[in-house]
Amino acid sequence: MQEFRLTAALVACLTLLPAFTSAFWRLPCRGRTGVARLDPIVDPGEISSHVHAVHGGGNFGMNSNMQTLRESSCTSCAVTQDMSAYWTPALYFMHTNGSAELVEEVGGMLAYYLLYGEDVTAFPNGFRMLAGDPLQRNFTWPVPDPPKSSWSGAQVSQKALRQKALGFNCLDYAGTAEASLYRHFMPNKTFLDANCPDGLRLELMFPSCWNGKDVDSDDHKSHVAYPDLVITGTCPEGYETRLVSLFYETIWNTYAFKDVDGYFALANGDPTGYGYHGDFMHGWEDGVLQQAIDTCTSDSGEVSACSVFDLQSETKQRECTFDMPSTLANEDVQMHADGLPGPMGIQWGPAYASMSMGSSSSSTSAISSVPTTSVDSVSIGVSIEIGNVLNHAEATTTTSTTSTSSPTPTPTTSIHVDQYTEEIVYLQQDVIVMVGEGGIPYATSTGTQRTVSTAITTATQTSTVVSYVEKRDSAPAEPEQRDPSAEKALRQAHNRHRHSHKRHGH
Ligand SMILES: *[C@@H]1O[C@H](CO)[C@@H](O)[C@H](O)[C@H]1NC(C)=O
Ligand SMILES: *[C@@H]1O[C@H](CO)[C@@H](O)[C@H](O)[C@H]1NC(C)=O
Ligand SMILES: *[C@@H]1O[C@H](CO)[C@@H](O)[C@H](O)[C@H]1NC(C)=O
Repeated sequence: MQEFRLTAALVACLTLLPAFTSAFWRLPCRGRTGVARLDPIVDPGEISSHVHAVHGGGNFGMNSNMQTLRESSCTSCAVTQDMSAYWTPALYFMHTNGSAELVEEVGGMLAYYLLYGEDVTAFPNGFRMLAGDPLQRNFTWPVPDPPKSSWSGAQVSQKALRQKALGFNCLDYAGTAEASLYRHFMPNKTFLDANCPDGLRLELMFPSCWNGKDVDSDDHKSHVAYPDLVITGTCPEGYETRLVSLFYETIWNTYAFKDVDGYFALANGDPTGYGYHGDFMHGWEDGVLQQAIDTCTSDSGEVSACSVFDLQSETKQRECTFDMPSTLANEDVQMHADGLPGPMGIQWGPAYASMSMGSSSSSTSAISSVPTTSVDSVSIGVSIEIGNVLNHAEATTTTSTTSTSSPTPTPTTSIHVDQYTEEIVYLQQDVIVMVGEGGIPYATSTGTQRTVSTAITTATQTSTVVSYVEKRDSAPAEPEQRDPSAEKALRQAHNRHRHSHKRHGH
């Protein structure tokens, strides 16, 4: 059943593509060179804070540059003259027991090279750039995007354009396709389960306006800018050189987790999607990209339509992988027992995420020294809310405390026994407990509270997933505001409770 679904997805993604109105080619990278905490642009020479899914030149590692990429003996993409590296955060599914499971990436990556604008220029030697912001956790502009014809002022600021350059496309090949970059956040799991049988397509538009001189910049962004309509439009002053436009697409099989309890998060600790981002490091053979820009002006999008390109089979693309650095050889990025590899804590926003939750210099020895912590003292917020709702003289509340001497997130259960309660609502909420030296919990960060199910019983059960995060040197994340849907669930619980009162004549 699942096999059939994947085959269908692969076939369909060859035909259902975004409608671009210029000449372009779609570079398939059916192979993935690897999945690892590597990012030679942001963290050169070091282990990166979070896991990336990497495509392109096989000579990829923590010290990659254009020269070393060009020395690759293979590429995971279709065009053999392209040894560039393309990477984005991997997508994970967060199980309720705290384990993070890598979601299957379907069909590799498609890197679109779009020829928008006048005098389109190839990336200069040594060029690299980032798109998106891993710490972003909210969207500060109108939803949905107003018509592009009405964009002006702050709407066309680089900050706004950068947020609008992300897309999360719900895939149902039997239905009407959503437009590219239509939704700028990751749909929640309920929505994905109900509407997206073919998975989720992550989309990322890179800036295509260049300052004409710098091949990189301190933040790896400020040497480039977006044209005023993200994909098309006019380049801002100082960035008049029009580069070939890059657009990444990856498809993730989110539907494989249908009806499994948990949520999705990007490897950078982002369950919202607003922090989606991508990196590009130029590794094209000298001169080939400009030649392709000048001659591959077909609007079919097929790389086979361009005589400049030497192509290789999908099998060859899939054979290309990078050598895993020995320091990462033992890191399980497929099923990571104690949360996202890093460790990278989940930050729900809407505040800008703090770097302190995930550090490139994380040490497992520091983490495993976290001593026993009683959950009693840290999940009070949740227990009290439930207690208030079912505020009943005869009620007894017991909290079963699961103590742990390891940092493995431990689901804890508090039982509220009430002989008058007939219908109850199961709520679930993630609580991240930051534990300082000596094992003293010093802050908690609370995720969205969600209804898991309702049942007729005499016990209210609150399942709380607690993650332990060691203390870092800067301030902890702000707790997120109470989710309106949780309020509703609590009201419902209250109403149902009152109903049962009446039936019992109280
Ligand atoms: C999930 O997303 C949908 C659509 O955006 C929304 O209507 C629904 O309330 C959300 N559900 C939860 C549990 O957050
Ligand atoms: C967490 O749950 C998943 C799914 O059931 C399972 O595969 C994984 O092994 C569990 N992790 C731990 C640490 O028990
Ligand atoms: C939204 O994110 C920005 C950072 O881009 C932050 O400054 C702002 O405070 C956030 N808004 C809220 C409501 O937290």
